[in-house]
Amino acid sequence: MKLPQTLLEKKHFPVMLNEVLKICLTKSGGIYLDCTFGGGGYSKEILNYPNTNIIAIDRDKEVNPIAKNLSLKFPKRFKFHLSKFSNLDNFFNDKIDAAIFDLGISSIQLEDMSRGFSFKSKKKLDMSMGLTKLNAIDIINNFSENQLKNIIKIFGEEKEAYRIAKNIVKKRECRKIEYVYELVEIIEQSKKRDFKKKINISAKTFQAIRIFVNKEISELINGIIKATKYLKPGGKIVIVSFHSIEDKIAKYFFKNFSMNQSRSNKYLPEKRLGNPIFFEKYFNKIITPSSKEININPKSKSAKLRYAIRSNTPFFEPVEFRKKFSKYIEMENIND
Ligand SMILES: C[S@@+](CC[C@H](N)C(=O)[O-])C[C@H]1O[C@@H](n2cnc3c(N)ncnc32)[C@H](O)[C@@H]1O
Repeated sequence: MKLPQTLLEKKHFPVMLNEVLKICLTKSGGIYLDCTFGGGGYSKEILNYPNTNIIAIDRDKEVNPIAKNLSLKFPKRFKFHLSKFSNLDNFFNDKIDAAIFDLGISSIQLEDMSRGFSFKSKKKLDMSMGLTKLNAIDIINNFSENQLKNIIKIFGEEKEAYRIAKNIVKKRECRKIEYVYELVEIIEQSKKRDFKKKINISAKTFQAIRIFVNKEISELINGIIKATKYLKPGGKIVIVSFHSIEDKIAKYFFKNFSMNQSRSNKYLPEKRLGNPIFFEKYFNKIITPSSKEININPKSKSAKLRYAIRSNTPFFEPVEFRKKFSKYIEMENIND
């Protein structure tokens, strides 16, 4: 049965689709976890292969119609859960063949101006992907100057966070900051212009607030630990990341919990750190989109794909991994 594509689906190009399929698909089919369903790009393609089953998750209720369409077409092989991937273990008991995390926001979310993800929006600040306690308006208007500075500095890696936070607080003393353009104006007034820089002057602050609103780092850490627990030996975990904090976390996890574990110097003998081993030998290889893909979909430019293969060692709670990134986790939870 061929069902019409919804307008939403047409908006998002799945990043490195062929690469993801090549890594994940097995001849015998299997159970695949699409942790970031979005426009369903990966799920739809995987379902074209025989004996494949998908458990898909997304926190954004806007993708419900896309998921519904797919469950009508594949009622037995496709299940969707409106949830966060930190809860993924609530949705199945079986061991899985692959877990895919395509992080960040989709074009569906970015191009919907009412959601306030884009600095071009004329609408209110929001930046929630769904299932969040707070939105950007709450944070910008209620958090202390020091908290704002830390959020912008830590999650946006923004050197001028201090001035931006100071000016947010100054502005909101006169009136509530509600609109995207108000925040953009404050950032523009706070930052020195550097015309050599290719990224938008607001990009880092917007990234920081979005990460904080959606607790993206805690989500990622919890999600990949849980996915690892449910992977079959030989099963793959794939992470497509779009900023350096995400990639740092993926790299650390794969490198330090793999057969070879971390080596400070490639000429030194392999050193066991005493961490539990989840993955087979990890080659620290980053896969990036081809120039052809970047031409068709310029948004894919910053994507980095890493994957690891589950070994047959039993699962342990990787305490050391959480500890390594506790600065981010604690920061995301300052308001809880
Ligand atoms: C880059 S898009 C995925 C696009 C998808 N691979 C496709 O081909 O259409 C990321 C999606 O993940 C969702 N998402 C991000 N963080 C999530 C989380 N912690 N739990 C569940 N969904 C999440 C977002 O709502 C968004 O729809």
